[in-house]
Amino acid sequence: MYWKAYTKGNNNVSVSKTNIHHTSGITTIGRNYRIPEEIWENRILTNKGRFHEQFEKELVEYLGVKYLSLFANGTLALVTALQTLSITGKLITTPFSFVATTHSLWWNNIKPVFSNIEPDYFNLDPDKVEEALTPHTTAIMSVHVYGNLCKLNALKNSADINR
Ligand SMILES: Cc1ncc(COP(=O)(O)O)c(C=O)c1O
Repeated sequence: MYWKAYTKGNNNVSVSKTNIHHTSGITTIGRNYRIPEEIWENRILTNKGRFHEQFEKELVEYLGVKYLSLFANGTLALVTALQTLSITGKLITTPFSFVATTHSLWWNNIKPVFSNIEPDYFNLDPDKVEEALTPHTTAIMSVHVYGNLCKLNALKNSADINR
């Protein structure tokens, strides 16, 4: 059996029984050379560098949000988000994700409850999540697999019902 799922831009995912390949939709390298060249020249490699500031400012405008923080990696952002939201106990999540999803829970002493995914885009199946809800569920943590959005409205409805 061989699956192919296409995402926006030139992202491409192919899944066989033994391998998953994901090629990212990155831009051409020439355009991006200018940025490391300027960083090498000004030697600011940590916080408050020009590109850090500029990226934060542009993201705030683009996303239309009030506050935004950049993190060194996605794992740290997940760990911090869970702590900021004071999540504890049992959280429903997906078994089909990068290991950081579960690591961020483990490091916060949160118990993952794995719910099944949909066969087409590999995202959490909202019907299965609804079945997995219990009075002990404290949160649902979904992942947009390969850039395809999960059914957030359905997941939010389940979360609201379970309040
Ligand atoms: C779904 C998901 N969450 C978290 C991460 C962790 O990101 P990082 O490797 O930047 O810590 C990844 C990385 O691939 C990811 O795919």
